[in-house]
Amino acid sequence: MSSPVDLRSDTVTRPTAGMRAAMAAAEVGDDVFGEDPTVRALEARAAEWMGHDAALFVPSGTMGNQLAMLAHCGRGDDVVVGEGAHSLLYESGGGGALAGVQFTVCGQGGHFTAEELAGAIRREDPSGHVAPTGLVMVENTHNRGGGKILSPEALAGLSVVCNGYDVPLHIDGARLVNAAVAAGLSPAAWGAQADSVTFCLSKGLGAPVGSVLCGSEGFIRSAHRYRKMLGGGMRQAGVLAAAGLYALDHHVDGLADDHARARRLAEALAGCRRAVIDPASVQTNIVIFGVVDQTPQALCAAVADAVKVLPFGPDRVRAVLHRDVDDDGVARAWRGVDPCLGVSR
Ligand SMILES: Cc1ncc(COP(=O)(O)O)c(C=O)c1O
Repeated sequence: MSSPVDLRSDTVTRPTAGMRAAMAAAEVGDDVFGEDPTVRALEARAAEWMGHDAALFVPSGTMGNQLAMLAHCGRGDDVVVGEGAHSLLYESGGGGALAGVQFTVCGQGGHFTAEELAGAIRREDPSGHVAPTGLVMVENTHNRGGGKILSPEALAGLSVVCNGYDVPLHIDGARLVNAAVAAGLSPAAWGAQADSVTFCLSKGLGAPVGSVLCGSEGFIRSAHRYRKMLGGGMRQAGVLAAAGLYALDHHVDGLADDHARARRLAEALAGCRRAVIDPASVQTNIVIFGVVDQTPQALCAAVADAVKVLPFGPDRVRAVLHRDVDDDGVARAWRGVDPCLGVSR
C-alpha cells in the first residue's frame, strides 16, 4: 500500500536532487561575520525582487514576523492584524513575550479594508490610556482565509491610511509568491508598498529552511541585531541560502500547478454531500472546506490511510497543495476522501 498523500501543509516539501546538489556546492563563510557570499547573494536578490533596498535571511517566517514587530514597535504598542493572523494565533505568543506588543483584530475573514483600518488605528492620548498603533500587519496570502489574495490595489488603500497616521506597514508574505504567481505580477507589486515584507522559501518553494525579511537599510540593521538577540545568527548558512536561490530559479513558476490542482480538488469537493466549499474562493494552493454530519477530526482520522489533512477549526478541514503532490497524488487523495464525504449531490 502506498503512503498517504500529505496535504497537511506546503511545508512538507522535500529538497530535490538538484536543490541538494546546489546546497552541496554552495560557497560559504561565517555569516555572523557577514562573510557568507551565498547568503549575501540571496539577500540581495530577495531585496530587489520584493522592491526593497536590503534583506535578512532568517530561519523561519515566524522569526521574520517577530523581527518586524521588534524593529518597528516599542513596548506596549498595538499591532493591527486581520482575523486569524499567523502572528496572533501561531507564533507562540511571541508578539507579547518578545516585542511586548498587543494586538487589535481588524475586519473579517483575514483581510481588511482601508476604512476598517482607519477605524482600528489608535493614537496616543494625553492621559496615556491608549496603546498607540505601532504597526499594521497584512497576511498575504491569508492562511486561515484559505490562501486568499489581497490585491495590490487594496494594499495601496491600506498604505495610504498607514502613511496618514505615520504607522509602518508589514506584510507577512509567507506565501506572497503564491499571490504573485496567481496574479501574474512581481512580488514587488505588493512588497514595495510596505515598509517591510517577509516571504518563506520553505513552503511551496520547496527549500528545507528559511525566510527572507526585506526593508530599508536602517530597518534591516535593526532586525539584524534582534536576530542575533533571538539566537538566529547562523554561521555557514550558505548551504541553506543556496537552496533558497535554487528555489527562486526553479520552483516559482510551478506554484501555478499547485493552484490549478487546488482548484480541481475544490471543484470535486463542491460536488460532495458532506462538504461545503465554493471553488471560486480558492485562489492559490490552500483549500479549506466545511464538513457536514461529522467532525473535522473524525473525517481526518477516517481518511488518514489515504490522505493527510488537518482539522482547521470546529467544522473545517484544510488541504494544501504543493510541489511534492502531482496529478496522480491529487487523484489518489481524492479516492481516499470521496467515500467519506458522500456521493455527489
Ligand atoms: C501566513 C504565515 N506566516 C508565517 C508563518 C510562519 O512560518 P514558519 O513556519 O517558517 O515559522 C506561516 C507558517 O505556516 C504562515 O502560514
